[in-house]
Amino acid sequence: MNSKKKKLKVLMASSEMSPFAKVGGLADVVGSLPTALKTLKVDVRVIIPKYGFIDKNKYSLKKIARNIIVSPRIRVNVWETEVDQKIKVYFIESKKYFNRPTVYWGNNSERFLFFSLAVLKVLPVLKFKPDIIHCHDYHTAMIPDLLKIQKNNFYKNIKTLLTIHNLNYQGKEGPEILSTGQLSVNSLKSLSDDARDGDINFMVQGILNADIINTVSPTYAREILKPSFSCGLDKILKKRKKDLYGILNGIDVNFFNPQTDVFIKQNYSFKALDKKVKNKLYLQEKLGWKPSPNKMLIGLVSRLVWQKGVDLIKKYFARLNCQFVFLGTGYPEYENHLKDLNRKHPLKFKALIKFDIKLAQEIYAGADAFLMPSRFEPCGLGQMIAMRYGALPIVHTTGGLADTVDGEVGFRFRNFSSKNLYNTIEKAISVYKNSPKKWQKMQKIAMQKDFSWKNSAKRYLDLYYKIAK
Ligand code: GLC
Repeated sequence: MNSKKKKLKVLMASSEMSPFAKVGGLADVVGSLPTALKTLKVDVRVIIPKYGFIDKNKYSLKKIARNIIVSPRIRVNVWETEVDQKIKVYFIESKKYFNRPTVYWGNNSERFLFFSLAVLKVLPVLKFKPDIIHCHDYHTAMIPDLLKIQKNNFYKNIKTLLTIHNLNYQGKEGPEILSTGQLSVNSLKSLSDDARDGDINFMVQGILNADIINTVSPTYAREILKPSFSCGLDKILKKRKKDLYGILNGIDVNFFNPQTDVFIKQNYSFKALDKKVKNKLYLQEKLGWKPSPNKMLIGLVSRLVWQKGVDLIKKYFARLNCQFVFLGTGYPEYENHLKDLNRKHPLKFKALIKFDIKLAQEIYAGADAFLMPSRFEPCGLGQMIAMRYGALPIVHTTGGLADTVDGEVGFRFRNFSSKNLYNTIEKAISVYKNSPKKWQKMQKIAMQKDFSWKNSAKRYLDLYYKIAK
C-alpha cells in the first residue's frame, strides 16, 4: 500500500542511542528501529548529543559542520557517522552541555531543551529537511513547540511524532527554563496554560503539540489514560486520545540470538535446547556456586529503579527452591537491597551491581527463568530477550509485559504484591521440577516467537504517513 506513496525523510531525535550512548531501553529502540525503517525505504537519520564518552575514533565520527549559532552565545559543531545500511547519525557537540562522562547530569531539562533547539538550527546547515521529526521521551518533547514558533520557511510542514517510552520522567522546570529554547510563556497558548501552576512540563508540551503520539505497547497506551498509571497526565492524554497509539517495541534479533551470540559459552537453538544447560553450569561456577543442572536459576537484568519492583523480592524468598542472580545499577536504595539479600543468603541470591553486556547475555543464556516484577512497564525488552534465550519470564501483568507474555510462555501475577510474586515463582518452580516436558514445550514456543522490528516498523510507517504532508 505504501509503495505508491512518496519516500519519507525522518529524523529521530533522542538522548540515547545504542551503541553510542545507553542508559536504558530507549537506547536499544533508537539503535534498532531505524534499521527496520530503512529496510522499508525510509530515509531515516538519527541525531543525538555528542557526549564526552563517545569515542570518535572507534566510531569513525567526522566533523561535518562547525560553529553553528544556536543561541547568541552558544555555537555547536556537528559530527557524523554511519551505522547499518548507511544510516546517518549526527552528533551535536557543545562543551557546555554535553561534554561529560554521563548522559544525564545537572539540569537535564535545560540541557535537552538546548539540544532540541540545536537540532532545529543545524538542519538547514546539513541541508536535510525531514518530513517528520520523531521525538523520544521528554528530552526531545519540546521540539513540536519549538517548530511551531520558527519563522523560517525551511521548517514549514515538518511534522512531529512523540514516542513516550516512560511517562514517569516528564521534565518539569520553572518557566525561566524556556529562555534556553528562546521561548517564553507567551510563545504558545499551551505554554501560558502550563505555566499557571508554576512550572513547565516538557512531556505535557509534547503531548499537546506533537502531530501524533504513541507509547511502546498497546496495553500501556490504554493504562496511561487512567490516573493510576498516568503520573498525573491522564487529563492531558485524554485530550489527544484519538491521536494516541500503542506500538510494541521489537528487539534486535540478530544481536539477541542464542545461535550466534559471541558473549555466551555455548550457542544453542530451540532445536538443540539440551545445550542450554552448559551456559547454566558455566554461570553457576562463575558466580561461585556449585554447578547444579537441576537447581532452578532465575535471572534479573535491569536498571534498579522504583519502576522495576525489585523491592518485592524479600528475604523470605530464600525459602524458595531456586537461586537468583541480579545484574544492574541504579538507585542506591535498590542496589543496597539486593546486596543485602546477597549478604544474608549468599547461596540463594547473587547481586552484581554493574553494567556488563557480556554478563547480561550470560544470564539470559544460563537462566531457566527471568524475573520482571515491574510496577509498570511501558514495553520492557528484557522479557523478550529472555524468551529468545529460552528463559521463561515471570512478570507482573502490566504494559508491554501483558502484551508479550502469556501462559504459554511464562508466568504472570496480576496484583502487585510480594506474596503474589512469591506464589508465582513457586508455581514456576513446580512446573520446572514436576513437568519438565511442559517446561521444555514452553521454552520452545517462547524461543520461536517473533520479536523482530518488522511488524512494528510497519506500524510506525503508517503513523508517519498519517501526518506527512
Ligand atoms: C523505557 C521503558 C521500557 C521500554 C523502553 C523502550 O525504558 O521503561 O518499558 O521498553 O523505554 O521503549
